[in-house]
Amino acid sequence: MNLLDKFHNWRRKLRWNKQYRRGRWDNLRKPIEAGRYTTIIEFIKSYGKLKPSILDLGAGEGVLNEYLSPKDYSYFLGVDFSSVSIEKAKTRNFVKAEFLTADIHTYSPHQKFDVIIFNEAFYYVHESEKQNVLDRMLSHLADNGILIVSIYREGIGCWEYFDKLKQLNFKTVKTNEEKTYWKIGVYKV
Ligand SMILES: C[S@@+](CC[C@H](N)C(=O)[O-])C[C@H]1O[C@@H](n2cnc3c(N)ncnc32)[C@H](O)[C@@H]1O
Repeated sequence: MNLLDKFHNWRRKLRWNKQYRRGRWDNLRKPIEAGRYTTIIEFIKSYGKLKPSILDLGAGEGVLNEYLSPKDYSYFLGVDFSSVSIEKAKTRNFVKAEFLTADIHTYSPHQKFDVIIFNEAFYYVHESEKQNVLDRMLSHLADNGILIVSIYREGIGCWEYFDKLKQLNFKTVKTNEEKTYWKIGVYKV
């Protein structure tokens, strides 16, 4: 990213912090969103190893953890560049889970993970960095690890980055609102 892109990214981070402080993202807990989280968990259970370590990129307040049973994983790390969302997630004291404030553009995991998730986060990665970020995260995928990607609606300009991977499953999670749906894919290298 050039200097101007970095500046815009910093501004976006401040905006996310403001929105999380105001409770703007509380709506992620509404029942209409549930199918997205439960599909991600179904993919973890169906294609991941038993009790995997999980890296959730763009984890926000840790809403995924509200659906995830601690018996289904060995370690969970949620990463988000919004310090406000991460502090909120930390207060929940989710079992075997840690939360870290970091920007996906530069974040490099300290270990390998069995499951890596871009949960409504990949489209926020700057166009010029999408391939770099994906390659960096894939290099931290453990042997037989899986990558799960959830994208709201069509994900134009995003899905082609995953074409080179082996697709294990792909679902469209629909709701009773025509324009509210997510596409969720699960991949291995
Ligand atoms: C729509 S929210 C989804 C939150 C969470 N994954 C969920 O589904 O409950 C998108 C999240 O991506 C985070 N995000 C956006 N750009 C990011 C970046 N460059 N690095 C880390 N997190 C980012 C935002 O702060 C926000 O928490």
